Amino acid sequence: MADTDDEHTSPRNPDNRIGLERQAADKAHEAQIAANPPEGPDGQPLHKPSGMTRVVRDRKGVRKVVEVPSTGHSWDGIEEYDNPLPRWWLWSFYATIVWGVGYLIAYPAIPLIHGATQGVLGETMRSNVAAEIQRFNEANAPIQAKLVETPLDGIAADPDLANYTANAGSAIFRTWCAQCHGSGAGGATGYPSLLDNDWLWGGTLDDVYTTVQHGIRDPKDGDTRYSEMPRFGTDQMLDDAQIGQVVNYVLSLSEQPHDAAAAAEGATVYADNCVSCHAEDGTGDRAQGAPNLTDAVWLYGSDPATITRIVHDGPFGVMPAWSGRLSEAEIRAVASYVHSLGGGE
Ligand code: HEC
Ligand code: HEC
Repeated sequence: MADTDDEHTSPRNPDNRIGLERQAADKAHEAQIAANPPEGPDGQPLHKPSGMTRVVRDRKGVRKVVEVPSTGHSWDGIEEYDNPLPRWWLWSFYATIVWGVGYLIAYPAIPLIHGATQGVLGETMRSNVAAEIQRFNEANAPIQAKLVETPLDGIAADPDLANYTANAGSAIFRTWCAQCHGSGAGGATGYPSLLDNDWLWGGTLDDVYTTVQHGIRDPKDGDTRYSEMPRFGTDQMLDDAQIGQVVNYVLSLSEQPHDAAAAAEGATVYADNCVSCHAEDGTGDRAQGAPNLTDAVWLYGSDPATITRIVHDGPFGVMPAWSGRLSEAEIRAVASYVHSLGGGE
């Protein structure tokens, strides 16, 4: 900057001289520019005094006014001055660099091919979650111990346990049961509603607890609830005509439209083949998980085609056992929750 008299930058200051040769070259260059000043697009010389000043202190702390040089860049008459960066800005900038380096060292940061650098603090999302889970489990340990010790029929009477089973049970249900029984426990085709008081295997807390613990027709659980409706058509125990008759009889039990003559024939077929499980009056048998055929609640469907298929192929609903997968406290909590849903006996 030939125009400045800032002693720190001016080539006229002997302190700033680099070497005689370089100085001579600079001088020649300056002279060349002075003789033939570069012009901007508007024909005006590019390097011109800015006319702006600021106050600086030299190394000895003496204040003086210097002219702020222009960088020579100007857009639409707005000129760019060559001011130093404000100190606070510069220091904040350095601080972010220091912080960034510290972060790289302390935390997992640099992605590698398999995973990332670990960081000296050993902090990971996974370890945080594990610590959280452990804290949560520890906090719940006393109430879970109490839940396991309390007889099933004493749970509802204890406000702490009732509150815990309502909350924890509902969370367990949404995690492990909702995919089959629906998030509101309303069930779906083949998956019973747990809200009504129509139970296949029984609706006391004890019954529900046993069902959850051992499952239904779960081949992996020796104590599972088990029964098997015969495959009357597939195994040729009944012919198509007989199946048609008994289906009409089943329709008549729940007072749905049916062929009265066929149903009368079907009554005999029913008496010979179905009574042992569904009972003489068709109300079913909980000991065998055989549904009531006289009501409006159907596990698989009430239409003739579905009933025909069930009698022909035999249903085989499977519900997994949860002992081994859920803790004793969790099974008790979710059983209590299901029992409290409205259909509990
Ligand atoms: C893979 C699907 C599936 C899951 C998951 C499942 N169930 Fe079931 N559940 C069934 C089926 C199917 C039945 C009916 C079985 C039958 O036909 O007898 C059933 C029946 C039941 C019954 C007996 C209903 C009655 O009327 O007697 C209860 C109680 C029950 N489930 C509770 C639960 C609970 C609590 C969970 C979660 C811990 C759960 N189920 C998870 C499929 C499932
Ligand atoms: C060995 C016992 C047994 C016998 C015998 C039996 N059933 Fe069943 N039946 C069951 C069981 C258990 C279920 C439920 C099975 C399941 O959910 O997997 C069932 C389910 C049904 C259903 C489905 C009900 C619904 O809610 O969707 C119909 C319909 C039915 N049986 C009709 C018959 C007829 C008709 C006969 C005689 C021809 C018969 N059953 C004989 C045990 C039996």
